[in-house]
Amino acid sequence: MTKLNGKKVFCIITGASQGIGRTIAIEFSKLFHSNSEIKLTARSKNGLQSTSNSIRSINKDIATECIEYDLSNPNFETFKDLVKPKKNVAFDIYVLVHNAGSEGDSKLTKDMSNLQEWQSYMTLNFFSMSLLTSAFLEVNPSGHRLIINITSLAAVQPFKSLGYYCVGKAAREMYLRTLAEENKDLDILNYSPGPVATDMVDRLITKVKDGGVKESFVSMRDNQALVKSENTVAKLIAILEQNKYTSGGRVDYFDN
Ligand SMILES: NC(=O)c1ccc[n+]([C@@H]2O[C@H](COP(=O)([O-])OP(=O)(O)OC[C@H]3O[C@@H](n4cnc5c(N)ncnc54)[C@H](OP(=O)(O)O)[C@@H]3O)[C@@H](O)[C@H]2O)c1
Repeated sequence: MTKLNGKKVFCIITGASQGIGRTIAIEFSKLFHSNSEIKLTARSKNGLQSTSNSIRSINKDIATECIEYDLSNPNFETFKDLVKPKKNVAFDIYVLVHNAGSEGDSKLTKDMSNLQEWQSYMTLNFFSMSLLTSAFLEVNPSGHRLIINITSLAAVQPFKSLGYYCVGKAAREMYLRTLAEENKDLDILNYSPGPVATDMVDRLITKVKDGGVKESFVSMRDNQALVKSENTVAKLIAILEQNKYTSGGRVDYFDN
C-alpha cells in the first residue's frame, strides 16, 4: 500500500524556501492527489513563492499556502493556525516535515558558555520543532499522522567545533523517539539526507573552525561527492513508500 502516492495529503514543510525543504515540497507534490493541501513555511517570502510556483506548475489543483514565519520565535497559538488545514475535509494522511534548521556558530564545545547563544540555537532548532509537533498533534488528533525530521549524521556522530549542531540534531531525534514510544499510532521517521549540496554546506565550509571537518567538506565539494537534493529526496520517498523503518527510528541516505 502506498503512503503518499495518489493520496489526499495535508502537508506542512518547514524551511521550504530553498535547499532540501524546497526539493521535498516539489517532489512530494508530484505524488499527491489533486485535492491535497501543502503549507510552506520559512522566513523568505520570495523563496516560498518560488517553491509554491513550482508546485503549481506541477499540479495547479494542489492548494498551497506560503507562511512567512521566523522559527526563532515559537508561539504555540500561532503554530496551531500553521498546522491547521484550510479545507475542512478528512485527508488520507497528515504530514509534518521538520526540515528548517541552522548550523549555529562554530566553536569548541568547552567554549559554548554563553547562555543566550545556547537558548537562541535551541529555540530555533529544537524548542520550535517540539512545540510545532505538539500543535500538529493537538489540531490533527486522529488519522494517519506522519512526522518526518530531517536529521544528520551529526545526531549520532560528533563533529569537532560543531557542538550546537550535533546537540540540536541529537535532541530532535530523542524527542521523536520518545514521542514514538508513547504513541504507537504515530508514524515517525528521522531521515539523515547525507552531505547535500546546499547553502548550508557552503556556509559550513566558510565558518567551521576545525581544520579536519572543514577539509572533509571541501573535499566532498571539490570531488563532486555531495549528494544532489533531488537524489536524497528520491531516497526519502522510497523509504516512506516501502515503509523501510520503525516509527521513531533513523534511516540514513547511505543505508541499504
Ligand atoms: N545540506 C546538508 O548536507 C545537510 C545534511 C544533513 C542534514 N541537513 C539538514 O537539512 C535541513 C535543510 O538544510 P539545507 O541543507 O537545505 O540548508 P539551507 O539551504 O540553509 O535551508 C535551510 C532552511 O531552513 C530555513 N530556516 C533557517 N532559519 C530559519 C528560521 N529562523 N525560521 C524559519 N526557517 C528558517 C531556511 O529558510 P529562510 O532562510 O527563508 O528562513 C531554509 O529554507 C536542515 O535541518 C539541515 O540541518 C542538511
